[in-house]
Amino acid sequence: MIFVTGGCGFIGSNFILQWFENCNEELLNIDKLTYAGNPENLSSTQANPLYKFVKMDITSADDLKMLFLKHKPRAVVHFAAESHVDRSISGPFEFIHTNIIGTFQLLEETRRYWGQLDANYQKNFRFLHVSTDEVFGSLTAEEPAFSEKTAYAPNSPYSASKASSDHLVRAYFHTYKLPTVTSNCSNNYGSYQFPEKLIPLCILNALQNKNLTIYGDGTNVRDWLYVTDHCHALRLILEKGRPGETYNVGGLNEMKNIEVVDALCKILDDLRPRKDGKSYLELKTFVRDRPGHDQRYAINADKIMHELDWKPQESFATGLSKTVNWYLQNENWIANVTSGAYQEWIQKNYGDRT
Ligand code: NAD
Ligand code: TYD
Repeated sequence: MIFVTGGCGFIGSNFILQWFENCNEELLNIDKLTYAGNPENLSSTQANPLYKFVKMDITSADDLKMLFLKHKPRAVVHFAAESHVDRSISGPFEFIHTNIIGTFQLLEETRRYWGQLDANYQKNFRFLHVSTDEVFGSLTAEEPAFSEKTAYAPNSPYSASKASSDHLVRAYFHTYKLPTVTSNCSNNYGSYQFPEKLIPLCILNALQNKNLTIYGDGTNVRDWLYVTDHCHALRLILEKGRPGETYNVGGLNEMKNIEVVDALCKILDDLRPRKDGKSYLELKTFVRDRPGHDQRYAINADKIMHELDWKPQESFATGLSKTVNWYLQNENWIANVTSGAYQEWIQKNYGDRT
């Protein structure tokens, strides 16, 4: 079997759904179920005897040790993290705790277990660390896209904690020869994304006739990738990626935030016109910028495209349209994730921005 950490989050649950569409292998999902973890994302897999779930914190070494002894996995795919930049600015502690200490504990317990395997099993074992392009810092408009050789220069507590975890993963390969592989991916979007990130937040706000909050002047650029394309890349890296290597994964799709919001508004104008006949574009509101806001991220994905024969299947137009349709069709999911604590976060982050 394989272990997946953080499988109740946005990318992890898409990965698990895709896993069972393509593989006949057991999978154990290890998730603490923070505000971002939602078992409902995986309700369609509950009846699958190959799917197992344990509610657990990856910072707990003893619990991890027991899981490795009991299940003897052939691989670990590590998604579990605190993942939202704005939350890392208002409260960095959890980011240091889960992203650094948690990754460290997971590496340690993996190493302990792996060290007792026979040579052939050791060779075929993989620890796939799912990371972000934000570890490379910010690009100007003229600079070339991030490659696997770009120096790390993280600027937010989130990206610094992920950079730190990437370094630990690298060190475990070099020092202990643990067969690790790291992926650094650009911004994902798609179904099951928690509505604190730009795209789902704007969809939900638009449907409730609330302001579409654009930080600063809206010219910050992100390289958007549809989540199932990312999951496909991860499955390829798991099976064919070379130990000790890192792979950049991106959507070949750089867009300014303002362009993303405009595109969303146009899709919503077609699919769910406002009752007053106005366009959703009128809800766009520029608000105070995020402190230390990185200007541009862009990925050079040549390595994974040439070495593992991967390329994104969705264009931004098709991916965004699928995403909007998913949120329109899943009102119950939205209602369940936007109660209580979610409202407190929205008030905390946006209350005094305008
Ligand atoms: P998410 O916030 O939606 O989900 C994180 C999951 O991890 C949740 O299910 C949560 O309950 C779980 N978790 C958090 N702390 C835990 C702990 N201590 N122990 C066990 N489980 C814990 O995140 P996501 O957007 O799905 O991102 C997944 C991974 O991909 C992260 O490592 C993130 O850094 C990376 N990544 C995300 C993006 C993106 O655009 N979302 C892009 C590139 C890389
Ligand atoms: P986000 O989805 O939080 O991802 P990340 O910070 O990891 O890139 O933000 C994407 C971009 O959108 C980023 O430049 C910040 C911007 N943004 C807004 O302009 N308004 C918002 O309300 C949010 C959440 C993000």
